[in-house]
Amino acid sequence: MTTSLSYYDQVGGAPAVRDVVDLFYVRVLDDADLKPYFAGIDLPRLKRHMVVLLCSVLGGPDPYEGRDLAEAHRGLDITAEHYAKVGEILVSVLRGAGVSDEVLRHVVLTLNEVESSIVAEPAETAD
Ligand code: HEM
Repeated sequence: MTTSLSYYDQVGGAPAVRDVVDLFYVRVLDDADLKPYFAGIDLPRLKRHMVVLLCSVLGGPDPYEGRDLAEAHRGLDITAEHYAKVGEILVSVLRGAGVSDEVLRHVVLTLNEVESSIVAEPAETAD
């Protein structure tokens, strides 16, 4: 019943994460509200950083060495609504890739943790 595999290994390691990130940005850029944020951005570089970040969130071997998330998103004026949209896309792509509910829960918790670093004005929460 128990497994010692990291979430990273469970999902299929870096190749699986790369596929998820590719599809994630296809879906993000396909959204008329989200697309403008990425105008003029070096997408291959962004994808590379996102792959390394997601791998490390899942317990992969390499640390994330990109910019601090608050620094990377400063000045972009990302709204809570758009943050939620991006989070939903990530979760839906991961689910489509067959990622387990346990891993999805971990990703959602992490998304909640980093929201205040990324969103310009965090939404009012009920609690
Ligand atoms: C959902 C959680 C998010 C994560 C984990 C995330 C992760 C990242 C990472 C790893 C980078 C690259 C940092 C670097 O270059 O060193 C980045 C950059 C960027 N992100 Fe996000 N991001 C998130 C949400 C968003 C949202 C909601 C938007 C806009 C709607 C967004 C727009 C951007 C843009 C435009 C850049 C490029 C900034 C630049 O190069 O100047 N991100 N993000």
